[in-house]
Amino acid sequence: MGQFLSNCSIDSLNVAAQVLKDGSLVAFPTETVYGLGADANNELAVARIYEVKGRPADHPLIVHIADIKYLEQWISEIPEYAIELARAFWPGPMTLILKRSAMAKDFITGNQDTVGIRIPNNSLALGLLEAFHKIGGAGIAAPSANRFGQVSPTTAAAVSEEIGDYLAETDFVLDGGQSEVGLESTIIDCTSVAPSILRPGAITDLMIEDVTKFKVSENIDKDLSGLEIRVSGSLENHYAPKAKVILDQIPIAGSGFIALENIPTPTGVIRLAAPKSVEEFARVLYESMREGDHQNLATIFIEQPMGEGLAVAIRDRLSRSARGR
Ligand code: TXA
Ligand code: MG
Repeated sequence: MGQFLSNCSIDSLNVAAQVLKDGSLVAFPTETVYGLGADANNELAVARIYEVKGRPADHPLIVHIADIKYLEQWISEIPEYAIELARAFWPGPMTLILKRSAMAKDFITGNQDTVGIRIPNNSLALGLLEAFHKIGGAGIAAPSANRFGQVSPTTAAAVSEEIGDYLAETDFVLDGGQSEVGLESTIIDCTSVAPSILRPGAITDLMIEDVTKFKVSENIDKDLSGLEIRVSGSLENHYAPKAKVILDQIPIAGSGFIALENIPTPTGVIRLAAPKSVEEFARVLYESMREGDHQNLATIFIEQPMGEGLAVAIRDRLSRSARGR
């Protein structure tokens, strides 16, 4: 079941860091979604992540660090534009894919010669990471804390709903309230002459172009070099609730409905969320899909937000949800 910690004082963060060092798992909040963390240097601990998630073992994990000063030990080279991105958007909802150092073992990278790194913008996550660095930890490997293929958790309650049954007595879940962004980080491939987006998120193509002056390409679902880049989120059956998700159609009575506030609810339809902005849409999306499952709804209709920026990331996840499990 794991121990649930909602009083996340410095003392309890120190305890949680030690739990990681001892090889157990700690689920923790980030501004994007909750992560399921393990010591990124401990192969056995990392293997338990795959067990708990039910995820194929060759999918690479993001290494989370507390500060840019811990970056160089994980990587072997970094282009100038990636340094600019790191300075501009870390801590924040952005993961950089970089050429790995010897520190980033195959069990982290899924046998690729690259490693994904992120500095999350959440005080509990940063506190945990700092405490972990203090006792000699180099980084925390953490995928989203959901079972493979399902919707990422944005609250501690959703974490225990997803993986509580698979955690051991010695594992921890840190409760930091609701994740502010609500969608997983933007993943940027920084191994070529110019950056490209592997997974859209709150750091948008325009923001990246603004900082780097490069035209950003999207390589979602594609690969760059003929080698397959394994972004597991780019598998089709992802981000899916139990209910069937149908996009941009008029909802039928008895089904769930998620749409921006200005779109009215047809008679007999169960409104699961009416966000006022695209930001709020992203923040509440996964929780409202979960709510649909709690209400045992067979179908959830979702009207996708239009436009650029964060709406692109929302539509990316929704198109995958709609393909089902
Ligand atoms: O917002 C986030 O990124 C959250 C929080 C916890 O940080 N984490 C997250 O992790 O979404 P995960 O494992 O659910 O999704 C990370 C994605 C996976 O699809 C993985 O395949 C991809 O990042 N990834 C990790 N390392 C990679 C690498 N070296 N090359 C290509 N893709 C990589
Ligand atoms: Mg995930």
